[in-house]
Amino acid sequence: MEIVHEPSRMRELCDHARREGARVGIVPTMGALHAGHLALVDEARRRGATKVVVTIFVNPLQFGPNEDFGRYPRTLPEDAVLCEARGVDWIFAPARESMYPDGFSSQVRVSGVTEVLEGVFRPGHFDGVTTVVAKLFGIVGQSVAIFGRKDYQQWCVLRRMVRDLDLPIEMHGMPTVREVDGLALSSRNRYLSESERARALAISRGLRAACEAFERGERDAATLTSIARAPIEASFDAIDYVALADADSLAPITLVEDRAVIAVAARIGKTRLIDNVVLSEDRIPLPA
Ligand code: PAF
Repeated sequence: MEIVHEPSRMRELCDHARREGARVGIVPTMGALHAGHLALVDEARRRGATKVVVTIFVNPLQFGPNEDFGRYPRTLPEDAVLCEARGVDWIFAPARESMYPDGFSSQVRVSGVTEVLEGVFRPGHFDGVTTVVAKLFGIVGQSVAIFGRKDYQQWCVLRRMVRDLDLPIEMHGMPTVREVDGLALSSRNRYLSESERARALAISRGLRAACEAFERGERDAATLTSIARAPIEASFDAIDYVALADADSLAPITLVEDRAVIAVAARIGKTRLIDNVVLSEDRIPLPA
């Protein structure tokens, strides 16, 4: 496995591999890798990637001024061990200056789907995400890209970007990987103390309860969100949103008639967690 720092070297490796007949898979991450990321690597292989690149870059453009850019975990040596053991071919870990050299002044912006949910609470966040991911796609070139659907809105936004800009990327989203007790895997779980982690389970409890109500036939959005919200309200310090939305456009809905997602963002202390379920598709099993 090679750890590549320069965009030009990364492009050269991918171009060369494709000329030799390889299918390149890309798994974009900010590092602090966990089993959820490694499942994305496996999915890239399952989708036929013969060369897999994991990109690791804590992208300053997608963090707001009061967010956790400074304390976001940076664990490249540990990440490299995990990637190597999983058979990753290359890690692309560029320096900030090679992604955003002096004079950098372009932006990729998707409208509509970025303007709800996270877009309301993290202004500019998705512009940072789409800009960096467009750059990563530009560097790696034609490829199959795998994203986790824990960042459900990000997944919708990036799919829109790839379609709108005719990027030569085959996009796949993977269901959220959870701990056995239901907690969605996230690099930010590292911020949680033991007692905060126990409180954080309220999100999966709330989402599971809403799924169960949906399965019993409940279709009213206000009822489903209040079922999801109750345990979160009791355990978290603040809730940004618990919302039911159309699973594709993310437009708010009042009655579930089609594919719908319940999305949550809430804070415990300084830690902000997000999670979601697509009703009738995702399951959060009860802890054994
Ligand atoms: O999901 C993430 O880790 C990031 O938002 C991404 C897609 C790697 C862009 O920085």
